[in-house]
Amino acid sequence: MLPQDQPGIMPGAGKKGNPVPTTGVQEKKLYERLTQALEKYKGKPGVLIAALQEAQEIFGYLPRKAMIHVANELTIPLAEVYSVASFYSLFSTVPAGKTRLEVCMGTACYVKGAEKLLQELQKQCGGSPGKFTSEGRFSVATTRCVGACSAAPVIKIGEELHGEMSPEKLPALLEELTKI
Ligand code: FES
Repeated sequence: MLPQDQPGIMPGAGKKGNPVPTTGVQEKKLYERLTQALEKYKGKPGVLIAALQEAQEIFGYLPRKAMIHVANELTIPLAEVYSVASFYSLFSTVPAGKTRLEVCMGTACYVKGAEKLLQELQKQCGGSPGKFTSEGRFSVATTRCVGACSAAPVIKIGEELHGEMSPEKLPALLEELTKI
């Protein structure tokens, strides 16, 4: 069973963070909010991305159940919902770790070794992009250009940009982050 499918586990509404247990009542309220939010999209074309953004805002990520809800409410094939959710990097189908590290995969960063940086980060954090460590401490993701190409390769952590990164600098960075 995937972590996001565990019953009663879901992150705080509207926040990115560790999954926290919710009661059935809380979960019901979140789905009521989603149903309301989706009302304005019904019967309109090209609304799937906006609808999924609303769902992600409510749940903090896109649980499978929420994607099914979106598909049912908007009568969009579930396969299409899944494919959009997995294609766009702005969507996460797993709960975010406490600290989200986003490796820029824009051209400048890519040329300067972002791929290797990402692989090493995954190794050290124990997960693939979009996954989180077993302790839920870090989640690793990729992002498009974050506008700091001269400092490539760049890792974005929250609003902070860490430039001129290298696989060798990762242990120190991760250690620093675990102290926060
Ligand atoms: S390509 Fe990474 S900051 Fe621009």
